[in-house]
Amino acid sequence: MSADLPADGTTHTMPEPTPEPTPDSVVDAAAAAAHEPTSETAVEARSELAQVEPVVGAAKPDAILVADDVVRRFGGMTAVDVEHLEVQRGAITALIGPNGAGKTTFFNLLTGFDTPQSGTWSFEGRSLQGKSGARVAKQGMVRTFQLTKALSRLTVLQNMLLAAPHNPGERFWLSWLPFTWKAHEKAATEKAVEILARFKLDDKAGDYAGSLSGGQRKLLEMARALMTDPTMIMLDEPMAGVNPALVQSLLGHVQALRDEGMTVLFVEHDMHAVRHISDWVVVMAEGRIVAEGPPKAVMTDQAVVDAYLGAHHDTDLGDDSLLDPEILARLEAEEEKR
Ligand SMILES: Nc1ncnc2c1ncn2[C@@H]1O[C@H](COP(=O)(O)OP(=O)(O)OP(=O)(O)O)[C@@H](O)[C@H]1O
Ligand SMILES: [Mg+2]
Repeated sequence: MSADLPADGTTHTMPEPTPEPTPDSVVDAAAAAAHEPTSETAVEARSELAQVEPVVGAAKPDAILVADDVVRRFGGMTAVDVEHLEVQRGAITALIGPNGAGKTTFFNLLTGFDTPQSGTWSFEGRSLQGKSGARVAKQGMVRTFQLTKALSRLTVLQNMLLAAPHNPGERFWLSWLPFTWKAHEKAATEKAVEILARFKLDDKAGDYAGSLSGGQRKLLEMARALMTDPTMIMLDEPMAGVNPALVQSLLGHVQALRDEGMTVLFVEHDMHAVRHISDWVVVMAEGRIVAEGPPKAVMTDQAVVDAYLGAHHDTDLGDDSLLDPEILARLEAEEEKR
């Protein structure tokens, strides 16, 4: 099965999410919430980004993803019109913007789930134009979906195994060799359990994915993406609909991915999350990129404030009053160190 099988465009009816579990402890969550990058790539990515001028289309010292003149129209409406974007390797880049700005459409285009009217883009120097979602994932770029695509009638473990690359059961000439298949299955299962443990979902391995809460399903999506050992992971609203306490640990997971050397591009409306974990922020409005730069600078940029206020007046651009005081204190101490 291909790495992105559950994202095959089929729709799956999701049962109503069950309530979020109570978090283990706020302290655990806070510990996971923010820290300095630890891997060499992440530290380097951040220091390199500090030298980049915060202007739209800015060249990055080590760009892993480069997009040019990507245009997607639906009828007479232009959903995406991105002139130039470079994403720095090893960093966490946030893609923000009001509802309908074109963020998900842009993700769909970059990852082979939709086709633009025009445009070119490359990943690690190789063009991805015309490549299917499966091919894109094989090259090392995986994404998760705004509406989770976990298959409710399969168990958590089965969902994970579907994402395992090079499943020999799929190849006709190998499928009749039980030994090959079993060895593969064993290795894939071990890997799946290990990743599930990291997301504290291992005790749910045998449960139907449909019985998970909304937040746990988001974690499962992230876990499933890791089955392919990606170089870059693209997360579409990983924190949406997630209990605030679980949000803190999700932030920790995203940072951990970067610290392992992965590149992260994530779409998010939660401005606390964006401000606290991203190394770089890109702002979209009406299909275009209207600003990019380090989180603090971008979030006080007039064009950004206008882009948000034009669309929804109640958007909180990083007001911390909603955060737990203990977590907030740690995050702020962290920011001062930056
Ligand atoms: N398949 C489609 N057919 C027609 N219009 C579409 C389609 N997909 C997206 N659009 C339109 O394109 C625009 C951009 O939508 P998109 O979902 O990319 O926005 P978004 O930034 O992800 O928004 P949100 O923050 O609400 O998720 C919207 O006006 C949307 O209605
Ligand atoms: Mg979206």
